[in-house]
Amino acid sequence: SEVYFKKVKFVGSFIEAPTRFELPQFVFCGRSNVGKSSLINALLNQKIAQVSKTPGKTTTINAFVVDEKFYLIDVPGYGFAKRSKSIINAWKKPIDDYLLNAGMLRTVFLLIDARVSLMPYDELFLEWLNYHNLNTVVLLTKIDKASQSQLALTKKHLQKFNLQYIQTSSVSKKGIDRLAQLIMQACDI
Ligand code: GTP
Ligand code: MG
Repeated sequence: SEVYFKKVKFVGSFIEAPTRFELPQFVFCGRSNVGKSSLINALLNQKIAQVSKTPGKTTTINAFVVDEKFYLIDVPGYGFAKRSKSIINAWKKPIDDYLLNAGMLRTVFLLIDARVSLMPYDELFLEWLNYHNLNTVVLLTKIDKASQSQLALTKKHLQKFNLQYIQTSSVSKKGIDRLAQLIMQACDI
């Protein structure tokens, strides 16, 4: 597969929002297990973000700096069934703080499993992003596993929100080229 970026450095794991970064930032949000860390790895062509079959793998805000030009931000997933309300709030506060205060945030990628479509919390989060005028692009994930009918339903559901979306797979690498281009354009690379 094509290599778009050369130098990737893990910056650190954060509990509190790292709003001081002075380069453009792109953040990967979505439900637990939707494939956020995997997509970052596919995009960077290396296994730098930790991936797991079990939901809840990523528990901190992890930052990667790429070619000294921009940051990719991997965040914990939300909405996994066993989490109580207080845990969801514990998730929400640092992420909201980060999203609202990161000066150079370019795009919020909202990852949606192409087979499952938008779940209730995805819709709430979309409304929140929209209310705060945060530039949002939907990334449909695990497209390699989605049937035509699942995909059709998901697309129909998305129309309601009038959002730009890209179909992706970390396995087949579908959509990685478009994702890389979108990021490079947003950074003037
Ligand atoms: P949390 O950190 O727990 O929020 O999860 P995450 O969104 O970072 O998901 P992660 O990348 O850890 O992937 C979860 C599971 O989905 C792993 O078993 C991955 O191998 C699998 N997976 C991720 N992307 C794809 C994909 O495009 N296709 C397929 N078939 N599996 C995928
Ligand atoms: Mg993860």
